[in-house]
Amino acid sequence: MTHTPHPTGYAGHLLPRGEKDPSRRALLAAPLALGVLSACDRFATAQPAPPPVAPLRSIAPFPIGSAVMSGQFDDPAWVALAREQVSQLTPEWEMKMEYILQSPGRMTFDAPDRIAAVCAAEGVRLHGHALIWYSQGEQAFAGLEGRAFAAAFDRYIAEVAGRYRGKVISWDVVNEPIAEDGNGLRDHHWSRALGADGYMIRAFEQAKAADPDAILFLNDYNLENNPVKGATFLRTVERLLKAGAPIGGLGTQSHLDIEIPAGQITAFMRELGAFGLPVHVSELDASLRRERRGDFRSRPQRLEQQQARVVELAEAFMALPAAQRFAFTAWGLRDSDSWLRRDDKDDGKDQPLLFDDAGRAKPLTAAVAGVFGRG
Ligand code: G3I
Repeated sequence: MTHTPHPTGYAGHLLPRGEKDPSRRALLAAPLALGVLSACDRFATAQPAPPPVAPLRSIAPFPIGSAVMSGQFDDPAWVALAREQVSQLTPEWEMKMEYILQSPGRMTFDAPDRIAAVCAAEGVRLHGHALIWYSQGEQAFAGLEGRAFAAAFDRYIAEVAGRYRGKVISWDVVNEPIAEDGNGLRDHHWSRALGADGYMIRAFEQAKAADPDAILFLNDYNLENNPVKGATFLRTVERLLKAGAPIGGLGTQSHLDIEIPAGQITAFMRELGAFGLPVHVSELDASLRRERRGDFRSRPQRLEQQQARVVELAEAFMALPAAQRFAFTAWGLRDSDSWLRRDDKDDGKDQPLLFDDAGRAKPLTAAVAGVFGRG
């Protein structure tokens, strides 16, 4: 897999290098400009006027986050929306092994360094994602066994978490440990070399040593959608904590299945909060796609389901004690930024995120803002 590394360096702001750095006022006028354009666009396409919604970061009593790719800093519309709406960013893929270990024998940090530098320059929190993930690293660690494997595992975490010490507030130390169907743990190169729980305990210990101040998260998906998987995650957290793993936070990705029964999200969030640790809604999106044949739901019906589940998630998160509400992060800003609009199943019509393709608020945005505004 070849990557075209993003240009190194940054303008010290969310703006592309070399571009005259307009005053913040001028840049923040961008949404106004977008508003004027969309007004014309609206008449032309007779779209319903998006509801006026105050910036989520100014309404919510906790950080609002988004996934980011370094190339998005070169998109003034993305920059304007991000500045207006979020106070935390998560690298969508450039702080993972697939990027950092893309060249055998060396580590590539240009893109994650740019993200870290922009967050520092903009006073935006940075959530590191992800140190150890079942789906990456097998090729890079191939041929290593026993003590050599363990040493390389430790070295990778020390290098990466050490590099961003003081730059990230937190890490997804282990991502997606639970089996897809929720029955037990995943089996992969990390668990086979270091043990089913062993690799996780080791990863958290190494991350703690490398960055003692970072909040260290265990992060997984489908925990609300699949109660069996959610229960296995909770049992795993309990077991790892008992074993002394320095887990400091719990991440539920919340890639929501909008057809799950009402109440399932609330029930899981309540049990997740019972550990008393910070909780991160870490990757919210709620696809409208028809994933199966014979799905005859109308678009309005799917939009209604989507809003009901996302509002339930927002309410369940709001119900946590304030000290446990780490951040509410969407897996992208605009629908068109979503990974779901980049995969082979995309029909170009999915609307999984909180802002539309033009960066405008949607009825969904207003509904979520209404929940967060309850203070
Ligand atoms: O930008 C490069 C492009 O220049 C290159 O031509 C192309 C082909 O190699 O790759 C492009 O980078 C891709 C990147 O997404 C941006 O599209 C990477 O190959 C691809 O691996 C990467 O996929 C990411 C995936 O995690 C794997 O890291 C997705 O963006 C990202 O949304 C997804 O996020 C995961 C979370 O980390 C964990 N939870 C599930 C979530 C969704 O799968």
